[in-house]
This record gives sequence, C-alpha cells and structure tokens, in this order.
Amino acid sequence: MVSGEIHENTMQELRSLPRNSKSLSMTFLGFAAVLLLFFASPTSSCTEQESSSLINFLDGLTPDGNGGLNDSWVNGTDCCKWECIICSSDGTVTDVLLAARGLKGGISPSLVNLTGLLHLNLSHNSLEGSLPIGLVFSRSIIGLDVSFNCLKGHLQEMQSSNPSLPLQVLNISSNSFTGQFPLTTWEVTKNLVALNASNNSFTGQIPSSICINAPSFAMLDLSYNQFSGNISLGLGSCSMLRVLKVGHNNLTGALPDGLFNATSLEQLSLPNNFLQGVLDGSHIAKLSSLTVLNLGSTGLSGKIPDSVGQLTRLEQLYLDNNHMYGELPSALGNCSNLRYITLRNNSFTGDLSRVNFTMLDLKKADFSVNNFTGTIPESIYSCTNLVALRLAFNQFHGQFSPTIGNLRSLSFFSITGNSFINITNALQMLKGCKNLTSLMMGTNFKGETIPQDETFYGFESLQVLTIDDCPLTGQIPLWISKLAKLLMLDLSLNQLTGQIPSWIDGLGYLFVLDISSNKLTGDIPAALAKMPMLLSERNAAKLDTRFLELPVFWTPSRQYRTVGAFPGKLCLDNNNFTGVIPPEIGELKMLDILNLSSNSLTGEIPQEICNLTNLQILDLSNNQLTGEIPSALSDLHFLSRFDVSNNKLEGEVPSGGQFDSFSNSSYSGNPKLCGPMINNDCNSRPSPASGKRWNNLRPALVIGITAGGLIALVLLACFLIARTLCASFPVLLCYANRARY
Ligand SMILES: *[C@@H]1O[C@H](CO)[C@@H](O)[C@H](O)[C@H]1NC(C)=O
Ligand SMILES: *[C@@H]1O[C@H](CO)[C@@H](O)[C@H](O)[C@H]1NC(C)=O
Ligand SMILES: *[C@@H]1O[C@H](CO)[C@@H](O)[C@H](O)[C@H]1NC(C)=O
Ligand SMILES: *[C@@H]1O[C@H](CO)[C@@H](O)[C@H](O)[C@H]1NC(C)=O
Ligand SMILES: *[C@@H]1O[C@H](CO)[C@@H](O)[C@H](O)[C@H]1NC(C)=O
Ligand SMILES: *[C@@H]1O[C@H](CO)[C@@H](O)[C@H](O)[C@H]1NC(C)=O
Ligand SMILES: *[C@@H]1O[C@H](CO)[C@@H](O)[C@H](O)[C@H]1NC(C)=O
Ligand SMILES: *[C@@H]1O[C@H](CO)[C@@H](O)[C@H](O)[C@H]1NC(C)=O
Ligand SMILES: *[C@@H]1O[C@H](CO)[C@@H](O)[C@H](O)[C@H]1NC(C)=O
Ligand SMILES: *[C@@H]1O[C@H](CO)[C@@H](O)[C@H](O)[C@H]1NC(C)=O
Ligand SMILES: *[C@@H]1O[C@H](CO)[C@@H](O)[C@H](O)[C@H]1NC(C)=O
Ligand SMILES: *[C@@H]1O[C@H](CO)[C@@H](O)[C@H](O)[C@H]1NC(C)=O
Repeated sequence: MVSGEIHENTMQELRSLPRNSKSLSMTFLGFAAVLLLFFASPTSSCTEQESSSLINFLDGLTPDGNGGLNDSWVNGTDCCKWECIICSSDGTVTDVLLAARGLKGGISPSLVNLTGLLHLNLSHNSLEGSLPIGLVFSRSIIGLDVSFNCLKGHLQEMQSSNPSLPLQVLNISSNSFTGQFPLTTWEVTKNLVALNASNNSFTGQIPSSICINAPSFAMLDLSYNQFSGNISLGLGSCSMLRVLKVGHNNLTGALPDGLFNATSLEQLSLPNNFLQGVLDGSHIAKLSSLTVLNLGSTGLSGKIPDSVGQLTRLEQLYLDNNHMYGELPSALGNCSNLRYITLRNNSFTGDLSRVNFTMLDLKKADFSVNNFTGTIPESIYSCTNLVALRLAFNQFHGQFSPTIGNLRSLSFFSITGNSFINITNALQMLKGCKNLTSLMMGTNFKGETIPQDETFYGFESLQVLTIDDCPLTGQIPLWISKLAKLLMLDLSLNQLTGQIPSWIDGLGYLFVLDISSNKLTGDIPAALAKMPMLLSERNAAKLDTRFLELPVFWTPSRQYRTVGAFPGKLCLDNNNFTGVIPPEIGELKMLDILNLSSNSLTGEIPQEICNLTNLQILDLSNNQLTGEIPSALSDLHFLSRFDVSNNKLEGEVPSGGQFDSFSNSSYSGNPKLCGPMINNDCNSRPSPASGKRWNNLRPALVIGITAGGLIALVLLACFLIARTLCASFPVLLCYANRARY
C-alpha cells in the first residue's frame, strides 16, 4: 500500500502537523531549511501586492472581529513577519493560518491575489458572506479550510480553463451554504484528496465523476445536507476512497453494486436516508477494510449476510431502525474487534447465543426492540469492557448467571419489556457490577415480590432505577434508601402497598420519583417536600451532566442523552393516598411535573402551589379537594396541562396567562365552579364564597377588565415567545409517558 502511505503524508502535511519524526533525513532537511530561512530572511520579504492583499482582507473584517491582527499587520512592514503568516524562503506568502481567531466580517477576494498561497485556514470563526470562488479555483492553494463559519450562498459551478488545479483538501463543512452542489467543478480538481461539505444545506445529487478525475480521492463527507437521488455509481471507481459519509440526507434507491468496488473503504456511513433493498452478502464481503459500517435508519431490509464475518476489522456496526429480520449469522462472532453494535428496532429473531460475543473490545451493544429469544448469551459475560448493554423489548427469558458480575465496566443495563424472572436473583447478581449507573428492568418479573432484605446494599453508583409495570407486590424497600446517588426512581404500575417511606428526602439527588399506579396508602409525607434536588436551582446545578452511555428512550421517538435533561417529576397519582396536600410542597421550586390525580386527597389546594414557577403539568383530578382554585396559579407561565376535574371545588376559575388556554374538561365534575372560562356565570349561580367577593369587587370591575385585558395580552405575547423558545427543548413538551428503556 505504498500509495496509501503517500496520502497519509500528504494529509499530514496539509494539517501542518510536524513531519514524521521517524525520518532522520527529514529532520535534517527541516533544520537546513530553517537555517536557510534565517540567512535568507533579511533579503527576501513579501511583495507589496501580497501585503496589500492581506491588508485588504483585514479591512474586510469588522473592527471587533479582526483577531487582534491590527498591531501586527501593518502596511509597509514585511508581511512575512506578520502573525499567522508563513512565507517560503524566497519571501512568498504560503500559509495564512487564522483558525479560531474570533474573526468576523467577510472574506475579501483579495486573498486570490496571493499567488503563492498553499494553505488557507479560516476555520472556527464567525465569517459571513460568500466564499470567493477564486479561492477554490486558485492556481496555488492545496489546502482550503473555511469550516465552522457562517458562510452562505451557492457554490457556483465553474468550468476552469485550467485543466488541473492543485487543490487537495477542501473543507467547507459546518456553514450555511445552500443550493445545488457543483457537479462539473470536480473535473478540474484532479489532485483532490479530501472534500468535506457536511452540515450545510446543499441540494442536488452526489457528484459522481469526482474519482474519475481525481485518482487519489480518499475522503468524502456530505452528511447533514439535503442531497437527493441515488447513491452515485461513479463512487465505485474511487479505488482510494477510505471514508464515505453521506448520512442525514434524502438519498433514495438501493446501495448500488458499483459502490462495493471501492474496496479501500474503511468508513461507510449513510445513516438517516430513504434507501431500500438488502445488504448483499457477496458485495459486502469485498469491503474487507471496513472499520465503520453505519446503515442505521436507512430503510434497509433483509438479513445480515453470513459474509459479515469476513469484515474482521469491523469496529462499529449500526443497522438500527431498519426492516431487517432473521437470525443473526453465527459468523458475526468473527468480528472480534467490534466495539459498538446496534441492531435496535428491527425484526430480528432467534437466539442471540448463536453468536459468540467473546469480543474483548466490545463497549456498547444494543439489541433492543426486536424479537430475540433465549437467555442472555453466556459469551457476553466475558466482555469485560462492556459499558452499555440494552436488551429491552425482546422475548428474552430466564435468570442472570452469576458471571454477570464479571461486567465490571457495565454502567448502562436495560432489560425492560422481556420475560426475565426472579428479581431477587437479578439484584443479587447485578450487585457485582459496581459501575452500574442506569438499571432499567420494568415489565419483567411478573407478579413477584420486590425483595425487602438488606442484602442488596451495593449499587453505589446507581443513578437511574426503573422497575415499573411488572407488577410487583410488597412495600417500597429500605435498600433503596442506601442508593445515595439515585436521581430517578420509577416503581410505577405495580401493586406496592404501605406508605411513602419517611427516608425519601435522604436521597439527596433524587429529582424524578414515579410511584404512580400502586396501592400505596397514608398521607403525603412532608418529607417529600424536602427532596433536596427539587428545592432550588443551586441544588439542581449539582446534577450530573455526564452523557448517558446510550440515549434513554422516553417514548419511541423521544430520547434523552443526559439524565439532567429529564424533567423534575413527582408522580403519586392513582394510589390510595389520603389527607391534605402538604403546603410545604410549594418549596419544590424545581418541579416540572406534579401529578396527584386519582387518590382520596381532601382539604384545599394549598396557595403555596403557586410558588412552583417551573411547573408544566399539574394534575389534581379525581380527589375530594374543596375550596377555591388559587387565582395566583395563573402566574405559572410554563403550565401547559392543568386538571382539577372531579373534585368538590367551588368559586371562580382563574383566568389570564396559561389559564386562557385550558378547556372545560380541566374543570369538569366540580358543579360549584364558575367563571367565564367555563361558560358558567358566577353571578347567576352564586356560591357563598364567590358571590361575596363578586359584590365587593363590582366598583372596580370596569378598570379591572381593561387592565386585565392588557395584562392578558402581554402574558399571551410572553407565552407565545416562551413557547417558540421552548419548542427546541424537548423537556418542556413531555407528558407523563412510560416506556423508559
Ligand atoms: C485548520 O486549523 C484547525 C485548527 O488548528 C485544524 O484543526 C485543522 O486541521 C486545520 N485545517 C487543515 C486543513 O489543516
Ligand atoms: C500599502 O502601502 C502602499 C505604499 O507603501 C500603498 O501603495 C498601498 O495602497 C497600501 N495598501 C493598503 C491596502 O492600504
Ligand atoms: C489583484 O491584484 C490586481 C493587480 O494588482 C488588482 O488589479 C486587483 O484588484 C486585485 N484583486 C483583488 C480582488 O484584490
Ligand atoms: C477539515 O477537513 C480536513 C480534511 O478532512 C481536515 O484535515 C481538517 O482538520 C478539517 N478541519 C477542521 C477544523 O476540522
Ligand atoms: C467533516 O466536518 C465535520 C465538522 O463540520 C466533522 O464533524 C466531520 O468529522 C468531518 N468529516 C470527516 C470525515 O472528517
Ligand atoms: C453544524 O454546524 C453548526 C454551526 O456551525 C455547529 O454548531 C454544529 O456543531 C455543527 N454540527 C456538526 C454535527 O458538526
Ligand atoms: C465494479 O467492478 C466490476 C468487476 O470488477 C466491474 O465489472 C464493474 O463495471 C465495476 N463497476 C463500477 C461502477 O465501477
Ligand atoms: C415480534 O413478533 C410479534 C409476533 O410474533 C409481532 O407482532 C411483533 O411486531 C414483532 N416485533 C418486532 C419488533 O418485530
Ligand atoms: C468463543 O470464542 C472464544 C475466543 O475466540 C473461545 O475461547 C470460546 O471457546 C468460544 N466459545 C464458544 C462457545 O464457542
Ligand atoms: C468505573 O467508572 C469509573 C468512573 O466512570 C471509571 O473511572 C472506572 O474506570 C470504571 N471501572 C471500570 C472497571 O470500568
Ligand atoms: C431466585 O433467586 C434466589 C437467589 O439467587 C434463589 O435462592 C432462588 O432459588 C431463585 N428462585 C427461583 C424460583 O429460581
Ligand atoms: C396523572 O395521573 C392520572 C392517573 O394515573 C393519569 O390518568 C393522567 O394522565 C396523569 N396526568 C398527566 C398530565 O400525565
């Protein structure tokens, strides 16, 4: 692979990295060059045209975005001595390296006049406007990097009279370019090695002739654009192509046979497109250099071919969210270098144990949402580097083997929605996994009793524990009180009895507690209102912002990448709680969701609930609450769901703010409620309390209505703005769904 090495060197040179230090002669040459430069520099300085070109470029930047170059770039001095400029020994400007200098403004076309320029690096700035096309068609530039800026406009198609341009690396990624991607331009970039145009808004087809003209072409990244059409056949002639990434576009059609002629491919990444067809066994076997194969969310169907076992260098395999089916080929076990595999959300069947998963580098494996059967393959327990394993929503059964304790690195483990049995055993075995932070086990252990005894102390690292919807009997066990790092506890949809334990506020990090739909009794303890993490912003800042090893699915389409992104939540609904709502609950300032629905709570809605300024969902329905609805609830600007139906409330329903958007059904089943919001005039059906107030307020009514209207308008405007802003934060749109896995 001599030619391959040449590329390696070219690429390194382009990145201005130090040359290969292994080579002694190179070092010597470099030394000689420095000497030469030293002696030559007094006599050779850059030309006036070069100085002017650079000064013109500087003038095109905004005063607050010139990277502090003003002091160094002074017209009339030798520009070879200016900051960020490199000249050759004869005083020609060869490199302009201005990455991450905080530059703002436009890129002046004057740079085209630097006729000896080899490298122009303007990446990671805030440059705007268009890219002077003359830079792409420069007769000298070999490396052009303008990635991570705000450049926009089309990249004009251009036939150059020059039959061959020197350009080798072009990085225009992460800008705002639009329009049809040039197709013929690439006929003259015969030296092109790498082209990265990802993360723009280009449309059109993938250029097909690129390799026909550029025999050394090795890297093409067009992902995160709006490319459409088929994957071009011409890519098959890319004999040197090592990286092809065209994910997150609108590509259609099958994987063309010709693509598999590009046998040097190491990374083939096409996720999130609209492809069809199957993964052909004889074709895929040709790509024996593959380390990354990402065909997730493409629409592929068919089976995984046996020949996948010939991809022995494979490290990452993504086939998630497709229509694939059948048993896994046992040859998959030959891919012993696998580090990451996801087959999530297909229709695979059969016993996972067909594959020998003795893969020492395996870090993350996701087999969730398929129809796999059998027990957890014994071979998985030998993957001592395994960090995340998700088996959720399959038909696995049985118990865990004691060797699961070998998985010392295991941090994320989800078996939700299977038919595992013996929760006592499961907890006993998993206790050995000291690094476990997320344990999701809901919808298993049907009808068992949650173990109470203290032998489960352990799980020091546990942050997320879900054992919902089994259903389990028994009480909320004491061993949970020792899970000092717990952030999220979900025991909903079981048959748990007894009271909310008084130690609950000892869980200093807990901010999601869902014990809904059980048979719990007693009062809502004031201890609940002391949960430190829900008390104040300061405490919430302690939340771990670490990324989860795998994103957690809240619903099939909503996923969370950090635990901290979950909404603060207290769900006690659908139990047999009695007594009053403790006023102290108003202290839980960080609460996003409060559901106390379907219990037997009595007394009034405490005024203090109006202090829960972050609240998005408040459900107090189906209780025996009395008195009026506190009008200050209308100050809760994020409230998007409100339900007090089926209580014994009376008086006027609040209006203004969010309360202008709640429908009648929020109040139904409270015959004594009145107010314009529910078309029930408080005057005509005066209840004792509201009638009195109404009369007292009458003189101020006219002013009140006018002012109220204005305030409502302002609030509505605020609300609309807030909603627009919030639309990008999924946390604010969530409802109390289950299925966390
Ligand atoms: C441009 O500079 C950035 C930051 O130093 C660097 O990461 C990047 O590799 C450079 N681009 C090229 C093409 O060398
Ligand atoms: C730089 O200075 C020269 C004279 O020394 C002058 O001709 C030229 O216009 C100046 N360039 C700019 C961009 O000001
Ligand atoms: C390039 O240089 C020529 C000659 O000095 C000058 O006429 C032209 O305006 C320059 N072009 C740009 C874009 O500055
Ligand atoms: C732009 O892409 C080139 C070619 O892949 C690469 O060498 C360079 O590092 C990239 N620039 C940045 C800022 O990542
Ligand atoms: C292309 O550029 C993007 C950033 O804009 C980067 O994330 C990506 O890794 C680059 N592609 C390759 C193959 O280096
Ligand atoms: C895409 O570009 C935007 C803006 O430059 C940047 O913030 C973002 O990180 C880029 N995304 C990727 C995947 O590189
Ligand atoms: C791929 O290779 C086969 C045989 O080597 C050849 O017949 C076919 O034309 C090639 N396809 C392309 C698109 O290069
Ligand atoms: C699993 O099989 C059942 C019936 O055998 C089917 O209804 C279900 O859709 C399958 N699930 C998946 C994820 O393929
Ligand atoms: C699985 O592979 C490992 C290592 O290659 C080997 O030692 C072991 O015997 C295999 N297990 C089975 C059941 O074939
Ligand atoms: C356990 O987790 C800690 C912290 O994330 C990490 O430093 C350590 O290496 C992990 N231990 C194992 C055996 O992976
Ligand atoms: C459940 O696990 C426990 C502890 O490992 C064991 O003693 C018990 O026999 C198991 N029960 C069943 C029904 O397998
Ligand atoms: C609150 O709990 C009740 C009873 O479990 C449920 O029906 C309702 O959907 C929940 N409210 C919200 C807003 O999720």
